[in-house]
Amino acid sequence: MTKKLLPVKKVGGTITVPGDKSIAHRAALLSILSKGPLTIKNFPDAADCQMSLAAARRFGVNVEEVGDTLVLRPPEKPSVETDAIVDCGNSGTTARLLAGIVAGSDGLTVTLSGDESLSRRPMKRIIDPLSEMGAEFFADDGHLPMKISGKRLLPFEYRLPLASAQVKSAILLAGMASSCSVTVREDIPSRDHTERMIQSLGEGLTARKVTPLIVPDPDDPRKKRREMPESFKREVVLSSRGRINGGTVDIPGDFSTAAFFFAAAAISKKTITVESVGLNPTRTGFLEHLRLIGCTVETAGKVTVGGEPRGKVTITGAPLRARKLSGETVTGLLDELPIVAVMAAFSEGTTIIRDASELKVKESDRLMAVADNLKRMGVKCGLLDDGLVIEGGKDLSGADFRVFGDHRIAMAFSVASLFLVGPSTIDDHSVVTVSCPGFYDLLNSISQ
Ligand code: S3P
Repeated sequence: MTKKLLPVKKVGGTITVPGDKSIAHRAALLSILSKGPLTIKNFPDAADCQMSLAAARRFGVNVEEVGDTLVLRPPEKPSVETDAIVDCGNSGTTARLLAGIVAGSDGLTVTLSGDESLSRRPMKRIIDPLSEMGAEFFADDGHLPMKISGKRLLPFEYRLPLASAQVKSAILLAGMASSCSVTVREDIPSRDHTERMIQSLGEGLTARKVTPLIVPDPDDPRKKRREMPESFKREVVLSSRGRINGGTVDIPGDFSTAAFFFAAAAISKKTITVESVGLNPTRTGFLEHLRLIGCTVETAGKVTVGGEPRGKVTITGAPLRARKLSGETVTGLLDELPIVAVMAAFSEGTTIIRDASELKVKESDRLMAVADNLKRMGVKCGLLDDGLVIEGGKDLSGADFRVFGDHRIAMAFSVASLFLVGPSTIDDHSVVTVSCPGFYDLLNSISQ
């Protein structure tokens, strides 16, 4: 389904975006383990989140729609038909978090399957720790389809070998399903929605950030220096009594979807406001990026609901400058990197992105997909093993973009199309349904 996009003359407005995908997944999947009902407000119609909801139903959750609210009533004990195959579609979060729940549910045997893209994505990162805890996995070369036999798991301590909220959450959910204690340590803190949701709706979870100590410098006692008391940056502990009791989850707007509209403001040097958008600090690295490349960022009406901050964000664009991104900065805006790369094409100077090899195992190889599409619009772009080098250009031309089955690639290059000389096409715009089915209506509403 090809879509034609034309350059626009005007950009601006105020919008709201659908509910946060990461939070919605967790609400749907945690309902399987909850002791009481969950009332969920603003659950998005994103295909990915609907996969998690469908999976919850398969495990015995009763889903009732009351107006625009969902009421999820958990089963007495998670159960599913013998040798069930549960389809996770395109959704890595559904597959990895659900794997944790199954792994810790003694007596359940379930096969998780997915579409072509999900079947290419690595599962070894969850198979290794969950097998160490005692679950049994059968997966060809660490990929879906993956058969899991849940067991009574053993208490577990794990240092994440990579920054991944999905791996961290799989281990926490496995511990909760098996009522065994788990400790997860992170070198680079990843998004913390699972921790916040357990703390808001349940009990038994503590998280601590390791802060540097200020100590005398042994080389010069008149000076002080910073020393990390531990070798990791964050520790999450779920006790054997960790549980979800039930309650209300009011999902804020998805920051990662809002980012595409903030980028439209940035490139056009105009103003766009997104209301009631999630502002969890593990997700908002993109706002700091916008500030550093020259935009004005205003946040108003910040409130915290169910442990998750939200507020109104207004971005006003300006002539954009290039920036170097690496390390923890990259983790803080990982899902936003395709649109960061598009903005780099409209910036003065050379943007360098390093430490982003995780992008190669997302819904597509996003490094390759971004480089391919940037070149199509006439941008000089180098593909590195762990990143990209992008030279900003002028009067870039409309192009025939390829989305590689990836919703964020489609959205990033649809935004780019608005600011190119001449028409562009997107080869399969339908992929936006994965995270934001109304994306093109929203894009039309802020541009003319
Ligand atoms: C997600 C975590 C991130 C992110 C993905 C959603 C989540 O993946 O890229 O889109 O909801 O936990 P990793 O945990 O693999 O880094």
